[in-house]
Amino acid sequence: MKNLKRRISFWSSETRLNNFDSNWISPKIIEVMDDLKIFQGKNVLEIGPGVGRQFTLFKDLAKSYDLADISSDVLSHPRFLQNKRKVLTSWSDRLKVKYDIITFWFVIHHVRKDEIGAMIKFLHRHLRQDGLVIFNSPLYNRNGRKDRSDGIHTTRWRESEVISHFSSGRFLLVEGPIEHKKDEFLIMKR
Ligand SMILES: C[S@@+](CC[C@H](N)C(=O)[O-])C[C@H]1O[C@@H](n2cnc3c(N)ncnc32)[C@H](O)[C@@H]1O
Repeated sequence: MKNLKRRISFWSSETRLNNFDSNWISPKIIEVMDDLKIFQGKNVLEIGPGVGRQFTLFKDLAKSYDLADISSDVLSHPRFLQNKRKVLTSWSDRLKVKYDIITFWFVIHHVRKDEIGAMIKFLHRHLRQDGLVIFNSPLYNRNGRKDRSDGIHTTRWRESEVISHFSSGRFLLVEGPIEHKKDEFLIMKR
């Protein structure tokens, strides 16, 4: 990953590690995830947990809940210590496990345009047949919205681009896009 050291130090900073705003999910999105029952009994990998906003909500429902992040400081939070954790250095990394669900929130805009193909291959490689990718994607193409935080560097994805990359990577759109505030929520199936 380009600028990996700078990206890690951005995400490892104190302010990032203490930013816990719980207002990130709408009732509609919870409903589409079958009132979160979608995670029940599943082996889940979350990429980019940050301070654990999604982790806190999903992990007790899942059968197993592993974490991956480029920042070992993120993964060292006491909240995560009971879970399996993997420091990612590249989308070519290979984990030993295949998952039923891979989920990530407020992460894809930190994936560069020249990395998205490799990220989607990573997702495909680590999901079982019929496995799901559950994620959201900040929108930059509406309301003249400008970049927010720059995790070196932020990509302005259009929702159509995201869907098209996943289609090229042999994924099927099964839910969404559902707009919530300035984000789109999607579920893709392998
Ligand atoms: C904006 S935070 C989102 C955190 C959390 N999902 C939330 O919504 O509060 C982005 C997270 O993704 C991680 N991250 C950023 N770029 C990444 C990459 N290329 N690969 C994996 N994780 C990444 C960061 O370390 C951080 O944990």
